[in-house]
Amino acid sequence: MSNTVNTLSEQIASELRALTEGVPHLIANLANSAALLYEKLGNVNWAGFYILQDDKLVLGPFCGKVACIEIPVGKGVCGSAVEKDRIIAVENVHEFAGHIACDSASNSEIVVPLHRDGKVWGVLDVDSPVKGRFSEKDTAAFQDYGRIIENFISRG
Ligand code: SME
Repeated sequence: MSNTVNTLSEQIASELRALTEGVPHLIANLANSAALLYEKLGNVNWAGFYILQDDKLVLGPFCGKVACIEIPVGKGVCGSAVEKDRIIAVENVHEFAGHIACDSASNSEIVVPLHRDGKVWGVLDVDSPVKGRFSEKDTAAFQDYGRIIENFISRG
């Protein structure tokens, strides 16, 4: 197998790994991951984390405009991704029933559930001003980002 980094998503995954590998600070890793994704993905206006506490998602480190602090499980795109425990990519957030608008510039969104000890721990949430920004290929790339993030989450 070659070690060549071919695509932008492979490059981002490799930078994410390099940035967080061996760093024993959860908040620092979350903050740097949000900053990296925000800067490198392109056409993104919000990137960050919500962390599950009891039955609510609570705002974690992020880049972008100020955002809502609590999202109940089952509500919005984030709460739905937790309830269903699967990645949700929304082509047009204005057509998603119950979408929670934090930044009026957002038109599409992807939410990746993150796990620790086999249970949902929180989500990675990324918003874009471009409709249909997150394709099926992106979904696969976000699955990889999720695994890298789960790696440092599991270290505490
Ligand atoms: N749109 C999200 C809320 C969080 S913000 O996008 C940062 C949702 O519907 O869950």
